[in-house]
Amino acid sequence: MANKISRAVIKRLPKYHRYLKELIDRDIKRISSKELSEIMGFTASQIRQDFNNFGGFGQQGYGYNVEDLFEQIGRILGLVSEYKTIIIGAGNLGQALANYTSFEKFKFNLQAMFDLNPRLIGLNFRGVEVLDVATIEDYLSEHKIDIAYICTNKEAAQNVADTLVANGVKALWNFAPVDLKLPDDVIVENVHLIEDLFTISYFIKGAKK
Ligand code: NAI
Repeated sequence: MANKISRAVIKRLPKYHRYLKELIDRDIKRISSKELSEIMGFTASQIRQDFNNFGGFGQQGYGYNVEDLFEQIGRILGLVSEYKTIIIGAGNLGQALANYTSFEKFKFNLQAMFDLNPRLIGLNFRGVEVLDVATIEDYLSEHKIDIAYICTNKEAAQNVADTLVANGVKALWNFAPVDLKLPDDVIVENVHLIEDLFTISYFIKGAKK
């Protein structure tokens, strides 16, 4: 089923998930697509179409059961499983990600960090040790890792990604400003914060005209 769902729909699911969690926290039990559209900024028909991709969750005249919808979207997003993660590059960004506690609330559990800088190897961030990247192949032969976060400088990123993939890692969260060339079956999500700043800059420039 997941193959037929467009990437645009999948990209909206985390936002539904976040808003539904807020409704649960406010003890709201059910919601219509119209009400959901008002708080989320999507049209009601967009919401109905999105949910129809998964067989639709609502009931005519009742709307959506918030808890059910939250759980089903969580299941579609795969948030019922634990994911074991590692960070490659334990510099500023790698440390910031390691120190961020929200990932483990959704069971993205950091197992180890890797770097080549002797000043960083052996350090510990919230109980997770920085290991020597020279040992990463041995590590991966002994530990099944679901997702690797690439936080090295850009020159190292492609080599690091190749090593990870050659040793069985199938999903990468890439923060280095480089388009990685990888086999089609590898899942890659790129995060380029600077591109968001460029978009902001564009709109500021527009406002100044
Ligand atoms: P940093 O220089 O503090 O950290 C990079 C770390 O990677 C260093 O500790 C270095 O020793 C390590 N490293 C280099 N080659 C390695 C290798 N082959 N194996 C393992 N570790 C290796 O840099 P910072 O600020 O943490 O940025 C990291 C990366 O993230 C850079 O590519 C930067 O451009 C990018 N970045 C991306 C952002 C985004 O929005 N995606 C935001 C900020 C940074």
